[in-house]
Amino acid sequence: MCGIVGYSGHVQAAPILLEGLSRLEYRGYDSAGLAVVGDSGDIDIVKASGRLKALYEKTDDGASMHGVCGIGHTRWATHGEPTETNAHPHCSDDRAVVAVHNGIIENYQELRDKLTRSGYSFYSDTDTEVAVKLIDYYYKKYQMGPVDAMSRFMLRVRGSYALAVLFHDYPGEIYVARKDNPLVIAVREGESFISSDVAPLLKYSREIYFLNSGELGRLTAGTATFYNVDQQEIEKKPVHIDWDADAAEKNGYEHFMIKEIYEQPRAVRDTINTVLKDGDINFGEIGLTDEDIAKFRHIYIVGCGSAYHVGVALQYVFEDIAEVPVRVEMASEFRYRHLLLDPDGLVIVISQSGETADTLAALREAKSLGLKTLGIVNVVGSTIAREVDSVFYTMAGPEIAVATTKAYSAQLAAGYLLAVKFAKVRGVIDDEKFDYYVREIDALPDKIAKALEDKERLQWFASKYANASDMFFIGRGIDYAISMEGSLKMKEISYIHSEAYAAGELKHGTISLIEKGTLVVGILTQPELFEKTGSNMVEVKARGAYLMGVTTYGNYNIEDTANFTVYIPKADEHFTTSIAIVPLQLFAYYVSVTRGLDVDKPRNLAKSVTVE
Ligand code: F6R
Repeated sequence: MCGIVGYSGHVQAAPILLEGLSRLEYRGYDSAGLAVVGDSGDIDIVKASGRLKALYEKTDDGASMHGVCGIGHTRWATHGEPTETNAHPHCSDDRAVVAVHNGIIENYQELRDKLTRSGYSFYSDTDTEVAVKLIDYYYKKYQMGPVDAMSRFMLRVRGSYALAVLFHDYPGEIYVARKDNPLVIAVREGESFISSDVAPLLKYSREIYFLNSGELGRLTAGTATFYNVDQQEIEKKPVHIDWDADAAEKNGYEHFMIKEIYEQPRAVRDTINTVLKDGDINFGEIGLTDEDIAKFRHIYIVGCGSAYHVGVALQYVFEDIAEVPVRVEMASEFRYRHLLLDPDGLVIVISQSGETADTLAALREAKSLGLKTLGIVNVVGSTIAREVDSVFYTMAGPEIAVATTKAYSAQLAAGYLLAVKFAKVRGVIDDEKFDYYVREIDALPDKIAKALEDKERLQWFASKYANASDMFFIGRGIDYAISMEGSLKMKEISYIHSEAYAAGELKHGTISLIEKGTLVVGILTQPELFEKTGSNMVEVKARGAYLMGVTTYGNYNIEDTANFTVYIPKADEHFTTSIAIVPLQLFAYYVSVTRGLDVDKPRNLAKSVTVE
């Protein structure tokens, strides 16, 4: 949460910083600000509450701020209301030190008290102002320069941070430090750039430096020097990033979300192609050997939000196809449980951003218990990708809309391939069955593309139901996992209350919420469960519900029950989640559009949740 950018070079910094922030706005969007070092060496700060647009207006698209070095921030409030005063950058009272921060300083109250005793006063409610003033305190007390002050700061604070700091005495230089929260750097002839993620940097360079936790950096126009917390200089090699820079543009679509929904066939195809070669699944590059696969006695899947929903679907798939016992946990719960994990278990952590604080904490917990870990991660070089023992990169490309779609689908595909490989290596399925599953997975991108063709009907239905106040998504087995994701998509971007329920569980209490006209979406992709879920739909219809059904072509008798039906192409029942989710994403998207909401940036949310 929160996005930070920085630039030191030879052209005006403010427009570059604003453009960088516009690509990071998905990380937080309740206020924003810039600090630019003017020609006199003084640091000019401009902040605005609300969306980034307000900062564009206030700075005349950056033209009112002069200088070739600066930093910027887009905020998702943690400490303090989203007011202009609490917006970043924050500064020491004499503006000797100015900084932007992504993260949380946990011992900020103790530090604030300490600084108050040393004569500091505070104008905001933020932990960041405390951080800046602590750096200022060390800088002035020891007078040993920025790297010394920042490293003392790093040794004193508890919490997480990605920091970019300007010092009045060092114009043209940006100092950066990191613990847990991401910070990446690009350098080219005469220019240096920093950002919270790689997307804003790709137009300048594809060679990206990833700052590790506990490291510091000093950037000038065209150079970057790195240090450990003991202030010793360290060597760092850039990582080459292949992502297509255009992938982070809307390319004519009205919103990133709909563009990303349409990118799903490509995202799933590319993810499959990384490991599926000549009809075989090869995990050589991922670093998972057949010997490893053969010996795991348990699988634990951990993630948050939609990534957790992928885990719920994969639990059914792994247990059914590979016959390995699976436990799925929300990452935020995982670390607070008395886990009793099997030391011969594999922990699979799923994360688009690779930076989600709860998932990262769960990963570290699993590692500390000695379990082998595998990440299904989208962002190359992210913290989770670097800390897991093996990483299966999904090939979704940059996902900008806050509500995930293509990354979710790519994660599912990665999980299917793992399950089928496990089944083969462990001797649970024969070659014929293996070939069948591989063919079914390989056919998914085309079937997803086919499901996308039904957009007009869903758009029409969405306009009809855009004023609903409650919705229910029900299904059994894997269909329940799909329901969870469909319901989350709906509520997070439409603000309509929605719940996912295991269809058979409704009658144990929740059915009392069904009133005349309540929309109930039934998912029926599992042949064995079709009739059971159908009966549950009849039960709610008898109590006034309006029914939408999602099922595969051929199940036409659903029309006896459902008022509106969406048909999707048939696939092996284990993999239908990938297809059935498409109409649910489109439905949520069009409800949000009809309601005139900010689809890509729903209120109160941020794309990368780097606080626990
Ligand atoms: C919902 C959504 C979130 C994320 C969750 C985990 O549309 O996007 O629920 O799935 O915050 O994020 P990652 O995958 O980055 O760990």
